[in-house]
Amino acid sequence: MSKKFKRTLITAALPYANGPVHIGHLAGCYLPADIYARYLRSNGCDVKFICGSDEHGVPITIKAKKEHTTPQAIVDKYHELMKKSFADFGICFDIYSRTSSKTHHSTASDFFKTLYNKKAFTEQVTEQYYDEDAKQFLADRYITGTCPKCANPSAYGDQCERCGTSLNATDLINPKSTLSGSKPVLKQTKNWFLPLDKLQPKIKAYIDSHPEWKSNVFGQCKSWIESGDGLQPRAMTRDLDWGIPVPVDGANGKVLYVWFDAPIGYISATKELLPDSWENYWKNSDTRLIHFIGKDNIVFHCIIFPAMLMEHGDYIVADNVPANEFLNLEGQKISTSRNWAVWLHEYLNDFENKQDVLRYVLCSNAPENKDNDFTWKDFQTKNNSELVAIYGNFVNRTLVLTHKFFEGKIPQANQYLKEDLLVLEELAKAPLKISNCIETFKFREAITELMNVARLGNKYLADTEPWKLIKIAPERVNTIMNIAAQITINLAILSEPFLPFTSKKLFDLLSIQPLKWPSANNTNNLQSNHQIAKEELLFAKIEDVDIEAQIEKLKQSKIETIEAIQSIKQETTFDDFTKMDIRVATILSAEEVPKTDKLLKIILDTGIDKRTVVSGIAKHYTPAEIIGKQVCLLANLAPRKIKGIESNGMILMAENSKGELSFISPEKKNINNGAEIK
Ligand code: 2FM
Ligand code: ZN
Repeated sequence: MSKKFKRTLITAALPYANGPVHIGHLAGCYLPADIYARYLRSNGCDVKFICGSDEHGVPITIKAKKEHTTPQAIVDKYHELMKKSFADFGICFDIYSRTSSKTHHSTASDFFKTLYNKKAFTEQVTEQYYDEDAKQFLADRYITGTCPKCANPSAYGDQCERCGTSLNATDLINPKSTLSGSKPVLKQTKNWFLPLDKLQPKIKAYIDSHPEWKSNVFGQCKSWIESGDGLQPRAMTRDLDWGIPVPVDGANGKVLYVWFDAPIGYISATKELLPDSWENYWKNSDTRLIHFIGKDNIVFHCIIFPAMLMEHGDYIVADNVPANEFLNLEGQKISTSRNWAVWLHEYLNDFENKQDVLRYVLCSNAPENKDNDFTWKDFQTKNNSELVAIYGNFVNRTLVLTHKFFEGKIPQANQYLKEDLLVLEELAKAPLKISNCIETFKFREAITELMNVARLGNKYLADTEPWKLIKIAPERVNTIMNIAAQITINLAILSEPFLPFTSKKLFDLLSIQPLKWPSANNTNNLQSNHQIAKEELLFAKIEDVDIEAQIEKLKQSKIETIEAIQSIKQETTFDDFTKMDIRVATILSAEEVPKTDKLLKIILDTGIDKRTVVSGIAKHYTPAEIIGKQVCLLANLAPRKIKGIESNGMILMAENSKGELSFISPEKKNINNGAEIK
């Protein structure tokens, strides 16, 4: 670490608590951040590693709507799941907090008030999109449309995930509500804006002072600042009901923009971790702040959050923002909604005690400079041909031969030959090579250098053949096996940031307390005569059946998605279709049918009559939320009695692969009850 800094504060993007962790999250930011934190700790640095769940914003409320539950229930469920799977995977946060915590609410509120009192915001009444069906303003992910920059048809109201551009909802072409599918209308509302246009010179100077940043990060920031009209004012408040209330007068029903509150979560979590000394980490210029993120978060961490911190005035800004690109899965974009993902909690269940295999594969294949692909075949190959055949094989041969020839006691080296000295010289270079890679955020290269240490050991044993020499030159074998043991312990030290479970196991096998990084410069860490434990395999081969099972699981997700949209019934005729009288109708009232958990008794206005229908949708909708909805009704279905109630028709529903139901409603407002569906 440069002398300028006394301590390092590492943050990893707070993941939305709306779903489990998948390999894309890990490769994007949590694994590199973890390797970096472990490396600094091993070097005795003062470092804190901060993360937590992002529990506000539209991603949470959308998930709650989908699961027919409350946002609170969603965040409670996923916060615990994510926290546990990160811990089980060995991600060594000093704290994994959450943005629903009291400390966070007050920290974010106070931050807003400070900016407000400093007149850092502009208060503006602007026209924002509003969904007249859902009766709410449409911010962020509640609205999609075509990105004006790259023509992505699925850009969100605050950002296009394809080109990374930060957007205002009113920038979208052909906007559409994700709540009702309808075209939104413009309605006036007051919000507080951060005038990024005015702050642009400060932000530009900040970015320009960091040409050492990864080129993907630096390049993106420069292009936002320099292209078109440059930075634009950005609303820091939203007309939504889930989030931290805006703490100023005249802001009823408004909350802080999730991207205002979430990064402040890094500060709140540090406060929770270090109630007495957190300010050292946030207010001293001798702290190095580093944000690990995925590429979709660049604008928020390099422009908006630094602008907020600068306007506040008390805080340092990030010294580096090493963002990774995206990881794909078997050639396709990872997708939560299509279940196209490898979920961490499922992996940990299916591959018990194999955290380091996934860590190894994700690190050696990390999407550092471009999007990359994870395939199960590659996972198997990297395990079988690298971890087992190179790393595991070298360690196992060393341990087995030490037991066979020396009853498990490290022999004393005697005379070093040229080949020994060359190997020791190579070994001595490894720590610095790996350090240089980690310190410049080149984790792929770093793990390759680590594996080169195991390669060096393997080659040394293959070249010197101690199993042959034992009969003809036993003295020589003492030196060879001493060197092999020194390579092994250095592997244990150098592996810790990358493969912490393996490192720990290896120290146990060598019967020695874990040593820290600087000890790797010492090629005499194991004293002669030191007794080691009985050998055990570090890695096991992964069989084809295990890989096929994973590929099958993915195929199943694909089939379910395709079935949900493609499975077409047998041909029918137009005459048959016209026999069905399907009408638009409005739900006038709804109530649960006693002693059932599925049925609702619904009264509808069909434009022709008012009639009762019993519908099996109680698990998907509450009576209150459906009153007033326009739906489609099969109106000439023969009446039938359900739980003693005569049902006169059937409300048509769309069902997805998970069995979730949704009404089908006319898109336009001017369709009257009784209108025929043809
Ligand atoms: O993209 C996401 O998952 C966001 N929840 C990241 C937030 S990072 C930070 F600012 F908290
Ligand atoms: Zn775009």
